[in-house]
Amino acid sequence: MNMIRELLCEQDRVWADETAAKIKAKLDWVSVKSKDKIPYTADENGTHDDKSRTDPSWWTNGFWGGMLWLMYRETGDSKYAGIAAYSEQVLDSCMEQYYGLHHDVGFMWLPTAVADYRLTGNADGRRRGLHAANLLAGRFNPVGKFIRAWNDGAWKEGCGNRGWAIIDCLMNIPLLYWASDETHDPRFRQIAMLHADTVMEHFIRPDGSSNHIVEFDAETGAVAARYGGQGYEEGSSWTRGQSWALYGFALSYIHTGKQEYLDTAKRVAHYFIANIPEDGMIPVDFRQPAQPDYKDSTAAAIAACGLIEIAKQVGDLEKGLYLNAALRLLQALDEQCCRYGEDCDYLVGRGSGSYHENTHEYPIIYGDYFFMEAIFKLAGSDFLIW
Ligand code: GLY
Repeated sequence: MNMIRELLCEQDRVWADETAAKIKAKLDWVSVKSKDKIPYTADENGTHDDKSRTDPSWWTNGFWGGMLWLMYRETGDSKYAGIAAYSEQVLDSCMEQYYGLHHDVGFMWLPTAVADYRLTGNADGRRRGLHAANLLAGRFNPVGKFIRAWNDGAWKEGCGNRGWAIIDCLMNIPLLYWASDETHDPRFRQIAMLHADTVMEHFIRPDGSSNHIVEFDAETGAVAARYGGQGYEEGSSWTRGQSWALYGFALSYIHTGKQEYLDTAKRVAHYFIANIPEDGMIPVDFRQPAQPDYKDSTAAAIAACGLIEIAKQVGDLEKGLYLNAALRLLQALDEQCCRYGEDCDYLVGRGSGSYHENTHEYPIIYGDYFFMEAIFKLAGSDFLIW
């Protein structure tokens, strides 16, 4: 039996299996209904939107493909591979366009082309993945030892962003680890590790919380500023950023074996676990004002995936701490956010893009993706997209 599954008590194992079955039943028909789309969210009727036509380079456009590949891996049904091919074709047009792309090529191509290559051996998936990895490696600033996040003007009008790095990028660098494994060329891994080392030094605070954005002087590499980004304010604690840090450092450890990455992932996890509210629902920022109490289901789903991966890496006496926290988050999502019925296209509601946006608590595709990934892990899957 799979190690994580074996650690669950009978009641949690039954819950994981039943939840996985409900997800599969939903994806069976939603995948067909949305087969010509790349969804990001859903409208007031619960119908998926479609970024493939409105914004093909949008950073979340890999998650729908990722859900389909997870389903393919779980069921062996080739219909999912067929539908996932649409995402890969749309993403090809972004390669040609080039200008819309930034560091999120990992989020876009790992769950699509690279998953395709890993699961089916599709040589086009390998080519697409290596192309994306080269774009990501090309964003490395060798003096500051960081990967540049966004392009000119992306955050504020007139802002160069040339020295900006963001915590989210920890989830993009597994594309570089994969590219080194695939080509036996260490440069990709070296860049990923130099970036991860910079993030350990300049993003992660002593208490285990993380900054969202650090600005470096692009010429000298010196730290120039820190920004609150998608969280409440500078010095606050944007929860999805904490989740990217938690899962991202766990992944860097898995791919490199560097002990400091696991130690950092654990430190971030301890901070996260200590801040889980009574009802298990994660706010948009752990340091936001008491009211309005906006939630972000996506932060919980991502953190749960990272906690499960940490549980796999630590000794027997420690595993329960991480696994139980993951279960608490996922069971809260199941009870308070999930929609398994035929009345809407999405699985997980109550996600929030950022603290200061006008709308909060709506379905976001990566909430669905990471919830699915976490539940499939608990139900026994060993497949790792990242
Ligand atoms: N990577 C952008 C976000 O988490 O919203």
